[in-house]
Amino acid sequence: MKRTKIAGIGHYVPEKCVTNQDLTQYMDTSDEWIQERTGIKERRYAENHKETTSTLGTRAAEIAIENAGIDKNEIDFIIFATLSADYFFPGCGVLLQRELGITKTEIGALDIRNQCSGFIYGLSVADQFIRSGMYKNILLVGAEMHSMGLDFSTEGRGVTVIFGDGAGAVVLQPTEEEGKGVLTTHLHSDGTNAEELAMINPGSHGGYHGNKEKYGFEDDGHPGGIFVTQKMVDDNLLAPNMNGQLVFKKAVQKFPEVIHEALNVTGLKTDDIDLLIPHQANLRISAFVQKSLGLKDHQVFNNIHKYGNTTAASIPIAMSEALQEGRIKENDLLCLAAFGSGFTWGSALIRM
Ligand code: COA
Repeated sequence: MKRTKIAGIGHYVPEKCVTNQDLTQYMDTSDEWIQERTGIKERRYAENHKETTSTLGTRAAEIAIENAGIDKNEIDFIIFATLSADYFFPGCGVLLQRELGITKTEIGALDIRNQCSGFIYGLSVADQFIRSGMYKNILLVGAEMHSMGLDFSTEGRGVTVIFGDGAGAVVLQPTEEEGKGVLTTHLHSDGTNAEELAMINPGSHGGYHGNKEKYGFEDDGHPGGIFVTQKMVDDNLLAPNMNGQLVFKKAVQKFPEVIHEALNVTGLKTDDIDLLIPHQANLRISAFVQKSLGLKDHQVFNNIHKYGNTTAASIPIAMSEALQEGRIKENDLLCLAAFGSGFTWGSALIRM
């Protein structure tokens, strides 16, 4: 039976390390508050003007391609998951294709906008393409440059302290090896609370989904409306917003639910999980999930203290580090799970 295997993994984080203490220069916060609420000690910020989301993704992809032992021109499809794309359009997939210097032109490139669950959504899409025989070497990348879009005033502190920059990538290939590869993937969404963890502006909403005033829309006489109004700039409405308590409540419910769903479908149990890599949203969320599933410390991987929440990049960065640290071995059962903006969430089980 043909399945999808991970042939190579790589990650890249920018050099610049920003500690919690560093953030106190810009906003009223403290190392103690951030560590206690999120487990984060520091995060990385890319170098503005020299690095972008697609270049971070490219650095991670180069390592994944090398580890897969293939030439970049053997890649036949690119999937790029991010919420902090270089441009509103086109997406980062084509920019990475160019930056990687793939000379075999006209392969496909798909961008995925599923925020924290983007990597798992991308994995599921890639898995369908590989099992159908359509592609043989898919490059799946999760990358974020959050530092460009955060509000560094005290008003934005609840969101800003959580997020960091980075990228991770995997090369996915078909395998016929008995029992190996991606065993199952599960994807879910519920748009009821779409605005509760969101960057509303710039966008085409024109105030349609809610309070025009709140979202900074104004009738300015422009015949077709406009993505960014002066009011959005003046009222500081061009940064992400988050209802932290609602996100927390939903996350600790949906993470275990979607992990159990994957285990049930495959007839496996929580004891069978060698390593759970949860999206690195918040250490308290991971601790809740671990407790709810009854997993031991050695069964869960966390690195949020070093990088903060890197959204679509957090799972592949963690996979790459876990492999380097010897926490993932041949035949291990790896469980991936994510929850985030949308809300969207998902899980995957992979026999390595
Ligand atoms: N530093 C210091 N104080 C802060 C702060 C910061 N960075 N951010 C918020 N505060 C303050 C608030 O202003 C509030 O002050 P007040 O009581 O004077 O009004 C107080 O801390 C408590 O705020 P609250 O939002 O109720 O805190 P909380 O206990 O819910 O913790 C989160 C906030 C964001 C850490 C928490 O809700 C959470 O972890 N949510 C999930 C977020 C997440 O994982 N997001 C990623 C999803 S993929």
